[in-house]
Amino acid sequence: MNSVTTSIAVVILLPVLYKVYQYLHWIYRTWFVIGTQVNKFPGEPLKWPYGNLHQNPGFNEKLNGYQKSMAAKYNRLWRMWFGPFVPFISLCHPDTIKILVKTEEPKFTDGNAGYLLAEPWLGNRLLLKCWTKVEEKQETPDTSFSFWHPQELHFCLQCGNRNSDEKSGQQKDRKERALTFRRIFRLCTLSIILRCAFSYDEKIQETGERHPYAVAVLDLSRLMVERAFNPFVRMSKFLYGLTANGRTFFKHCDYVHKVAETVISQRRETLQENPDALEDRKYLDFLDILLQARDEDGTGLSDLEIRNEVDTFMFEGHDTTASGISWALYSLAKHPEFQKKAQQEIDELLADRKNKWIMWDDLNQLPYLTMCLKESMRLWCPVPVISRQLLNPITIDGVTLPPHTLFDINIIALHHNPTVWGEDHDEYKPERFLPENINKMDNFAFLPFSAGPRNCIGQNFAFNEMKTTIARIIQRFDLSVDESHPVYPRPEVVTRAIHGIKLFMNPR
Ligand code: HEM
Repeated sequence: MNSVTTSIAVVILLPVLYKVYQYLHWIYRTWFVIGTQVNKFPGEPLKWPYGNLHQNPGFNEKLNGYQKSMAAKYNRLWRMWFGPFVPFISLCHPDTIKILVKTEEPKFTDGNAGYLLAEPWLGNRLLLKCWTKVEEKQETPDTSFSFWHPQELHFCLQCGNRNSDEKSGQQKDRKERALTFRRIFRLCTLSIILRCAFSYDEKIQETGERHPYAVAVLDLSRLMVERAFNPFVRMSKFLYGLTANGRTFFKHCDYVHKVAETVISQRRETLQENPDALEDRKYLDFLDILLQARDEDGTGLSDLEIRNEVDTFMFEGHDTTASGISWALYSLAKHPEFQKKAQQEIDELLADRKNKWIMWDDLNQLPYLTMCLKESMRLWCPVPVISRQLLNPITIDGVTLPPHTLFDINIIALHHNPTVWGEDHDEYKPERFLPENINKMDNFAFLPFSAGPRNCIGQNFAFNEMKTTIARIIQRFDLSVDESHPVYPRPEVVTRAIHGIKLFMNPR
């Protein structure tokens, strides 16, 4: 062999050998280092090569029931193998969940999977960023948190009132047939977050799903979930880009990025032309706050960072809330006795007023409605499962799990754990959230918004948005369920009803 052939062989062989080494190391780590520890926990019998995949009912209406049955069987946690190489632990009890959720351990982003599927759309900002150190998180300008100033929430309340009025105004003449709730509330909450986050005040609900921004955002969420369940394109951005779905996904990403960029540059120009413009505005919106944010050195966010924050809020801020509103209205429609009590409370509060809008000070005056909403979030869990991957070892129930171990924080299993919520966990009982019962409850028993350092930063906004919208609707309408339309929850990124939720709205 001459020296040229030897050099070519080395250039080709070395990377191949390195890849083989990496692969073998990965198998050693998952089978022996992580797998040995994970297998110390109880779980269903394993079958090669499926692991436990063959027992999982798949991505359908049975998945919810499966999670509940596992919580009933294992109580604290169970181990699962996702095929032959991916072991993970599903946590379903406050005692086991609090150990993990209180830590800074990052989201699951191994390979190019898990949360990273959203990266081309949302960038590596708030939701996706793997904070490795508390200090790193603190170095990022504190922008999103200041959004939750009461003034901003007040502004959002107006949007909530206005949007639910628009929504119910559209429904007024259609009481004779049941309406599909999931879809209409996605448009309603998208419109609210667009108005609040960057004063994008288009009539999305009137244009309906043909509105290009609404089409893009709704499609992006759907495509992302579909990709997560497709093993052929899940790990490769390149392969995904070759598929029809991938091309649509990246086309929509470009479009939503362009909308955000245009709005950001227009706002920058306005501020440059008139630096006092912000003082003239009654309320600062999220975009104003992002543009003004400075870290300790006086450095602001780049356009890309601002765009990523706005897109993240758009995604996190509408689908989750739409799910929460739809399931809460469904629960009230299914239980007229609770609906009546909530309506009475609202009627009494607004009795002497001509304008029936829910105002800022009203939010704390609706304790019964609050209990009803919490109970529907327990029962239906808008965000059903979240994941973490360890950077540091942690010990749970006497077993130390090494770095790279994968965990589900299984919110749906937690909320249906009979050792936490009783054998009647499937029943809708708002009184579970009476103050005397809350006092006895573990702080980590009810986690619709997660907890710890990575909890939901939009939770006050979301809960108040839900309260306002639902109060306005049930104050004007009696809701009842279309019994001819079966409702099956399916846990995706958010919990959806597979064929939608159909309710009748009768003016009171
Ligand atoms: C009913 C409505 C909502 C529910 C149930 C919900 C639930 C959650 C949950 C469970 C997490 C933790 C995710 C994880 O650890 O992977 C989360 C994170 C987050 N949520 Fe929400 N959310 C809701 C509404 C909102 C709204 C309206 C916004 C913004 C306007 C928002 C912004 C965020 C952000 C930015 C994060 C990431 C925080 C971080 O990783 O540090 N959410 N949410």
